[in-house]
Amino acid sequence: MPKCLICESSFAPFISFGQMPIANGFLRPEERAEEYFFQMEVGFCERCGMVQLTEQPAREKMFHENYAFYSSTSRYMAQHFEKFAKDVQEKYTSSSDPFVVEIGSNDGIMLTHFAQQKMRHLGIEPSKNVAKVALEKGINTISEFFDEALAEKIVRENGQADAVLSANVMCHIPYLHSVAKGIKRLLKPKGVFQFEDPYLADIVEKTSYDQIYDEHYFYFSLQSVSHLFAMHGLELVDVAPQVTHGGSMRYTIAHQGAYTPSPAVTEFRAKEKAHGLHLPATYDRLRQNIERSRAELVDLLKRLRQEGKRIVGYGATSKSTTITNYCGITPDLVEFISDTTPIKQGKLSPGAHIPVRPYTEFSTNYPDYALLFAWNHAQEIMAKEEGFRLAGGKWITYVPQVSTFE
Ligand code: SAH
Ligand code: TMP
Ligand code: ZN
Repeated sequence: MPKCLICESSFAPFISFGQMPIANGFLRPEERAEEYFFQMEVGFCERCGMVQLTEQPAREKMFHENYAFYSSTSRYMAQHFEKFAKDVQEKYTSSSDPFVVEIGSNDGIMLTHFAQQKMRHLGIEPSKNVAKVALEKGINTISEFFDEALAEKIVRENGQADAVLSANVMCHIPYLHSVAKGIKRLLKPKGVFQFEDPYLADIVEKTSYDQIYDEHYFYFSLQSVSHLFAMHGLELVDVAPQVTHGGSMRYTIAHQGAYTPSPAVTEFRAKEKAHGLHLPATYDRLRQNIERSRAELVDLLKRLRQEGKRIVGYGATSKSTTITNYCGITPDLVEFISDTTPIKQGKLSPGAHIPVRPYTEFSTNYPDYALLFAWNHAQEIMAKEEGFRLAGGKWITYVPQVSTFE
């Protein structure tokens, strides 16, 4: 039986997705033969409440000089991180020469707002191609993986930090004890660590199982997050739900006793209990809902194809890799996937090998149906795609339920 990476208890997986490729591993046709797969299973640890994969590909297979995810492709996310940065500046950077660190700073989407203020900052970004984009924008960035040893080095060279920030990164890192020790070392006595990630309660409630893929090792809740950091003399002092990535949670962590935990912590802890996030039965139900969702989506796509409809995927998201592989969606069901990211275009989607094509191939020859893989950006996309709707185009979604809409 696998062992929990947080508390070392044994746990049994509640679902297996079978063989899965690297979610961001878009490939050229000639690379098909070497494509890497791993067995993707998820389990729930009853002792500390952590939901986690049982196996993850080596980090260098996922985060490297060809990492396909550039944060700044979404305008909405750019606004989100601008607000996040402003909030940090208002609350936590009042010392005489504040220092802010971001873990997994990608192309600098958030740190740019600290660089503009000429505030001391440091981005830690192991994927060299995206780190380079940040460097070119004048954002101090080092291309390394964050852990305890790196934190030690940062403190030696820069002193401790007023704020350490991280978005959609913590859930990627299996060696979280080393990270937590690094945070403990890095924070000033009143410093805070703020991080956000997809929230387990949203995944359970919306059956948004496409959040589950190689990079996302953990699916956090208040219960599991406070358990982890308490093991290192750190305390969860605030939480704030976010609408990003289909429902996320921002956690504020500080040295034990440095701040009084906010009422929101008590409130969301009670909500988690009421939703049964601490009970194995909840994850049995989640598996049933995932299996039902798959059956309904496959039925719908096959029926539409039998009716002669053209279906195109919208957004070659990392999440879509779980959907296409788990549901067995191949190019005979979905003709191609439209995506605005140049590095993905002309390639095949991981595992399912659906061609990824530039957005213009969608906009100049509308299909009958667009399968909304980028459902977390629905608002931004619907505003942009009035033309598709007026041309009679319909959307297919699978979150929270498999359905079509205009
Ligand atoms: N914060 C950005 C990027 C999220 S993608 C956003 O929310 O849009 C996850 C990023 O984490 C990738 O750029 C990846 O290279 C980086 N990453 C993965 N492991 C890391 C580690 N150990 N330390 C720092 N960054 C890491
Ligand atoms: P994400 O869900 O991981 O943020 O990835 C979004 C992907 O969808 C990214 O590859 C860019 C693509 N995309 C489009 O092609 N068109 C759009 O309008 C949006 C918002 C995203
Ligand atoms: Zn555990």
